[in-house]
Amino acid sequence: MLKGKSILLGITGSVAAYKAIDLIKGLKNEGASVSVIMTGASKHFVTTMSIEIAASPGPVVWDMFETRMAHIDRPRNADLFIIAPATANTIGKYACGIADNLLNAALLAFTGPVIIAPAMNWRMWQNPMVQKNMQQLASTGVITVGPETGPLACGEEGQGRMAGIETIIEAARKVFTPQDLAGEQVLVTAGPTREYIDPVRYISNRSSGKMGYALAKAARRRGAAVTLITGPSAVNVPDGVETVRVETASEMQQAVMQRIGDSSLFIMCAAVADFAPEATLPEKAEKSAIPSLKLRLNPDILLETSRLAKRPFTVGFSAETGHNIARAKKKMSDKKADMFIFNDVTKEGAGFDSETNEVTMIDGHGETALPCMPKEEVAAAILDRITSLKRGG
Ligand code: PMT
Repeated sequence: MLKGKSILLGITGSVAAYKAIDLIKGLKNEGASVSVIMTGASKHFVTTMSIEIAASPGPVVWDMFETRMAHIDRPRNADLFIIAPATANTIGKYACGIADNLLNAALLAFTGPVIIAPAMNWRMWQNPMVQKNMQQLASTGVITVGPETGPLACGEEGQGRMAGIETIIEAARKVFTPQDLAGEQVLVTAGPTREYIDPVRYISNRSSGKMGYALAKAARRRGAAVTLITGPSAVNVPDGVETVRVETASEMQQAVMQRIGDSSLFIMCAAVADFAPEATLPEKAEKSAIPSLKLRLNPDILLETSRLAKRPFTVGFSAETGHNIARAKKKMSDKKADMFIFNDVTKEGAGFDSETNEVTMIDGHGETALPCMPKEEVAAAILDRITSLKRGG
């Protein structure tokens, strides 16, 4: 998303200014170029040399009168302006159209998208003047990320911490992503389920949740309202995604059935445990009890949703150990899905817990094999196909 984009970063006088170095590195890792304007106050918190080394090539500028026309040239060449961290002072001046330093002048000269990541004490953030300024900026299309709640530099706790680097970068990616899922309500399931034998032991599988979380994140980036129903997973929840945590197949079934009626797209990526112990023992079982464990079949959630009178566009996954596309097609037909993703989990770099995946998309028009790529790219390709099918082809 950010490859080849030119990003202008404004750094202002907050203790979070040192985090700008990681932000610059993160943006550059995505293939963007970064040029920087600092305020005089920010130089108390981070040196121009550190920022210059991180953002190189190109000098960091801060003085309105030392670098001729920087307030026009820098914004003219930028695709996106990010202010991180953004102090109450810079926000207030921007909202009022004041241009008394290089950064605020450059903001007024910029006509493209602006993201601001506020950072300040929680009382300052809650101040009605600051909130009024934020509303003013939002009404002109300025995008805000954060601030987050947590421990603050002053020793207090509250809302005022600059948003995390990944959150700011994700907001930047979203700026350059077509919002072709705006208005869609997307329901995604992810991860494994756990079926308890007793309070300490369970039956589960190797799903990490990475594929489902990547789908939720990609759908959110494209403008959808996303609900993620997830089994136990250590993956970070994507920003802006409503998350429902469950453990067992029955809990996942309940969560899906409660929400599917409001959804326009349903992606069942979770690896639901097919079997569960017939009964969960109330206390930790003696070792001798394990060999007599009796199993029952879990509810098939996708099959159950196929019986609904009204069902959203539905996508299932088929995890197979071998190139058994016929089985995936049978599942797609049995579960009456609009699309199925065949996933041979024995392939190198594919399936459970890997960062990449290699899948084949199956729909009413045929099969499309995708190369092995990061799960976020697989997710984007799946959503591309879904939007094309929803448009009728
Ligand atoms: O989470 P990761 O580590 O990133 O791994 C990703 C993945 C391998 C888990 C994922 O890509 C995948 O293949 N998910 C589907 C796993 C699966 O359970 O496949 P299945 O062939 O057993 O089931 C077919 C479909 O029915 C699936 O959409 C499944 O969610 C659904 N199902 C299965 C059983 C059940 N009781 N209820 C269901 O709804």
